[in-house]
Amino acid sequence: MAATRPTTKRDGFTSTLGVLAATLGSAVGLGNIWKFPALTGANGGAGFLLIYLLATLLVGLPVMIAELTLGRHARANPIRALRMLAPPGQPWWLVGVIGMLAAFLIMAFYSEVVAWVFVYVWKSLEGSALSSDPAVTEAAFAAMVGNPWVSLVSQWLVLLLIGGILVKGVAGGIEAVTKRLMPLLFLLLAGLCVFSLTLDEAAAGLAFLFKPDFSKVDAAVVLTAVGLAFFKMSIGMGTMMTYGSYFRSEQNIPLTAGRVMVADLAVSLLAGIAIFPAVFTFGFEPTAGPSLVFITLPAVFAQLPFGQVLMLVFFILTSIAAIGAMLSLLEVPVLVLTERLGLPRPLAIGVCVLAVAVPGAGCALSGSVLAGVRVAGLTFFDLMDFVSSNLLLPVGGILIALFAGYVWGRAAFTRAVSNGGTLRNEGLAVVVLVLLRYVSPLLIGVVMLNGLGII
Ligand code: TRP
Repeated sequence: MAATRPTTKRDGFTSTLGVLAATLGSAVGLGNIWKFPALTGANGGAGFLLIYLLATLLVGLPVMIAELTLGRHARANPIRALRMLAPPGQPWWLVGVIGMLAAFLIMAFYSEVVAWVFVYVWKSLEGSALSSDPAVTEAAFAAMVGNPWVSLVSQWLVLLLIGGILVKGVAGGIEAVTKRLMPLLFLLLAGLCVFSLTLDEAAAGLAFLFKPDFSKVDAAVVLTAVGLAFFKMSIGMGTMMTYGSYFRSEQNIPLTAGRVMVADLAVSLLAGIAIFPAVFTFGFEPTAGPSLVFITLPAVFAQLPFGQVLMLVFFILTSIAAIGAMLSLLEVPVLVLTERLGLPRPLAIGVCVLAVAVPGAGCALSGSVLAGVRVAGLTFFDLMDFVSSNLLLPVGGILIALFAGYVWGRAAFTRAVSNGGTLRNEGLAVVVLVLLRYVSPLLIGVVMLNGLGII
């Protein structure tokens, strides 16, 4: 194995703090602010939260540990890592190929939502889109989505920004940027929470988020929670394998993954604490779906003192969250192209940015010129979201769990998780292996079959 490793020094994260910032930067994203509060609102609040927590622990954490461990052990992109670690002749590397495909599909719609967030930073500065009348904020959102040029150009700006950061490398780009931005994210979010808790209906908002009501929990809710845990932790497509390949050898992977999980959860909860009291205070429904962020919240901000400043802070912190996630998505194909085809990093980044821009344009134009184009009733935007979240990620997740649990083998996994015996992680490795072998594949399989409407 050692002979196949590149001899030149590989770029990578330089400190424990850098590892944490970058990995947390990947996990924290639109999922925390755009998906989590909306799904929690739509699925009955605290009951959903509790099930999401279980899904994170039983499925998310083990698969995250597996991906990071595989990546660090192989010190290569996911395709190459799986080829190296699989028995000869077994095509496990295809899992890496599926992952790369998933990365492009996710980026196609994700970059467009990030583009909306950037546009809303601008709107916050202008003070437009701020109105206590939800009909007005809805019209403002519809006008943006319906304008093809605004949708396209803002998406290109997002891709240029992310590509520009990646050109600086793993340590100089990803680590340097996330190390500066993640603390700022927590600061801004904590500030919004303190403000939100002083509002009249803070208690109702908190009760909604933290007082479980299991009457609303059914099979569909459980499955949604598992799917969200997956998307949240950036697993199932090789992102964490890629980042694992940049981890330092002495990094304690289960500890790191646990910290990232807890911190990511904290961001989701803080986002909920910032949003729900405000929503309840002004009598809005928490079940507004994804329009919560772009339509309901501006209407809420309009009724608060310093509303324009609060809206600006909110959309800046959402941009920060989204940048770290986008970096980790784009890095996956970039690493494959540099290692597999030997492309210089800037060229690989250029190729990948262009390759995202093509399906990305389909998503950007889904609200305007392509609005009438439907596949199985879905717009191009919704199709990308559906295929990646409900098909490619779960398939990738099952296969990674099975690979780590059965193919790579207990001894190799235990050794890698324990850093060759220097860490006392053997007991933990057994627990993770049991989850990878018996629990995660089963749960993910059920989620996937349900997502496809088969059960
Ligand atoms: N975790 C990010 C979020 O919550 C999104 C993300 C980044 C992602 N990398 C990923 C999702 C890889 C799935 C797979 O917004």
